[in-house]
This record gives sequence, C-alpha cells and structure tokens, in this order.
Amino acid sequence: MTATLAPASRDNLNAKVRGTHRRVKELESEPNRRNSFMPYVPVPGTPFVDLFGERLLMMSGYSYLGLSGDARVNEAAKRAVDMYGTGSHGVRALAGTTPLHEELETELAGFNGREAALVFSSGYAANVGTVGAICGPGDQVFIDKYDHASIVDGCQLSGATVTRFRHNDPEHLDRRLRDAPATGVRLVIVDSVYSMDGDIAPLPQLRKVCDDHGALLMVDEAHAMGVIGATGRGIEEHFNFEALADVKLGTLSKGIPSMGGWVAGTAEFIYHLRYAARPFLFSAALGAAQTGAALEAVRILDREAWRVARIQAESARFRSTISAAGMNTGASETAVVPLIIGTDLEAYDFATACRDEGIIGLPVVTPAVPVSTARLRIAITANHSPEILDEAARGFLRAAARCNLIGG
Ligand SMILES: Cc1ncc(COP(=O)(O)O)c(C=O)c1O
Repeated sequence: MTATLAPASRDNLNAKVRGTHRRVKELESEPNRRNSFMPYVPVPGTPFVDLFGERLLMMSGYSYLGLSGDARVNEAAKRAVDMYGTGSHGVRALAGTTPLHEELETELAGFNGREAALVFSSGYAANVGTVGAICGPGDQVFIDKYDHASIVDGCQLSGATVTRFRHNDPEHLDRRLRDAPATGVRLVIVDSVYSMDGDIAPLPQLRKVCDDHGALLMVDEAHAMGVIGATGRGIEEHFNFEALADVKLGTLSKGIPSMGGWVAGTAEFIYHLRYAARPFLFSAALGAAQTGAALEAVRILDREAWRVARIQAESARFRSTISAAGMNTGASETAVVPLIIGTDLEAYDFATACRDEGIIGLPVVTPAVPVSTARLRIAITANHSPEILDEAARGFLRAAARCNLIGG
C-alpha cells in the first residue's frame, strides 16, 4: 500500500513545487526584472534603501509614519530587550505576558477609543483569531471581494458560511444580507483602506446596512492606522465618528514599525478573545523588542499628528501630479497610490524602467489583482519630503514615457 502511494504522492508534490508561482518565475527570468525577495538595506530615517551597493528611493515600503529606524523607537526596543530578554517566555495565557504587553494594550485601547485591546503576534493572526472567535459553523460572514487574505483565511477556518459582496458596494451587501438566513451571528468584514487600491470603505453606509439586518461590522485598519483620520485614528475618525465599527482590528507592521496585530473592543469581548482566539491562545507572545517598539511608536503617533497630515497632503499632491500626466491611479484616496499599468509583463517592464531612474516601485500582478490591472503599488510615507516626491514623480513619468504608457 505504502509502496504504491508514496511515489504518487512524491510526484504530485513535485508537480506542485514546480508549479509554484510559475508566472512570477517567468516574469523574473531576466536579472533586471527581478523584484521579489530582494535584499534591501534601509537607510535609517530616510525613504532610501541600498541594493547591491546602489542607493535607491523606496516607493513601495510600508512604514507610512516614517518611524522605522527612528532613534526613539530603536531605543525603546533595546530597553525592552534589556529588561525582558529575547524570545517570548511562553503563550500569553501562561508565562508569556509581561507588563509591557499590558501597557501596549492599554495604549492601543485608548488610541482607538475602546475599553480594551489584545495584541497578537501578527495582523494575520489577529484576523484569523478574531473571525474564528466570533463565527463558527451555523454563522455567516459577509466579506468585501477585495478583503485581505488573512480575513478570507480566517473565514474559511471558522467553518462559517462565507458570502462575498461587490467591492465597496453597500447595496450589494444589503441584497446579500436580505437573501441569507437570519440565523446565528452575522458578521460583515471590510478593510478600512484597501491595500492594492488605496480606496476607503464607505463606513457610514455599511453601518446602516448592518444595522438594518442586525449584523456586526468589523474593520481591518491595517493601512488606515496613522494614515487616515485627522490624527491617524483610522476610518471612524475619517468619517468624523459618524459611524462606529463593532470590532476594530489592525497591525503593528505598517504605520507602526514593529510586528504584531491588535484588536480593540469592549472589555468583555476582549476577555472572550483571550480564551477563544486560537492563534492567540496557542502561539507564543509577541517578543519584547516588538512590543516595546510598538508602544513607543503608538505614543509618538499620538503626539506627532504632523506625520499624518504630511502623509495625507503629500499623497494627494503626488496622486494629482501623476494622474494629471495621464497615469491611472484608480480609486486611490490614501497613501496607497497604485500606478495601474495593464498586463503583468508591462508592469514588470515599468518597474525596471523606474529602477533605472533610481526608484523602487514594486509590481503587483495577477492573481493578487484582477487581470489586466497589474500595477506598481506605491506607498507615500512621512519620510517622503515634498522635494523627494516631486523628483520621484518626474522619475515615474520619464519611465512611463519610455515605456509608452503616456505621451513623451
Ligand atoms: C489589510 C491587511 N490586513 C492584515 C494584514 C496582515 O498583517 P501582518 O503583516 O501584520 O500579518 C495585512 C498585511 O499585508 C493587510 O494588508
């Protein structure tokens, strides 16, 4: 039995291994088209990186607030390691909780205007754990077509019935909710800011639809924290607190330059999560360096709203320069500014032309985005000064002209 099954399994696995990301392998077959897994060395306090001895302007990084490498954040991480060591001492429910975790959770709760918060070891784990703690078999989750993969995975693992609705379309959600049986928990999940398009979920309308159907609303603030809302408090602040979410969740790996995820809500709900969210309960605590760095960065965000204002002003200016010159920035209204190009190959060629201008703009291709909408996913940070962005815009436009994407 084993003798006949084993070779077949090996062949089947080999076929999968060979097939993995065949498209990316094809696209990156020439050295000057390589874009994934490049060993960038960030230049602290700047938006530049070194790559194979060359200094390049990074335009596709995540550190929206420009705090990666900030001396205060680095010091906080070092102090935390000196105090609590490396490693995590265990899962949070057992030996893994330190006063630093509690401090970070108190800070995140306050920042988000909620009673309590819980920190996970990644944003991915926060989504998977939270969906699974809210929904199970017999319950129903309604997700936007463009929701992040961690939400999709969380829904699938939960065993709940999953229904997708059209992107940023509250009327379609309304129909989906009307058509579904009104049993169990009904949970609607959206990204506050969509990571490939930079558009914002219509929170007030979604809230109304949820209320009409007795559904809960959960928002993923991964690309919203520190980016939208006058003081970077995310989607609720963006809409002047006209509507609130039932569950607010985010990551510490983007605007906040650390690692980890967070969920904020009522004290009772957070207590439930502590015991019901499996990626929290059965995975080691967030390390001291990450916890200390995140705590310091959230406090800086709270004090330095100018960072948020700069991101918003400069993203708008960059977007209008680029789109006025004929490039397609889609529905972007945040720091994520996609340069939508067309085929996967065209996006790769454009990225190469940008590199020749000294700019890193990383391509995102199918299946991460719909066919024929391959793009460079540009992210504006507080470290991109107006002068740097003006220079970058000129570089992008020269590259686009050389690729015949716009008129020379
Ligand atoms: C919308 C969204 N949610 C969740 C995550 C996962 O966060 P993390 O990278 O901290 O695991 C990401 C990461 O890209 C994201 O874009």
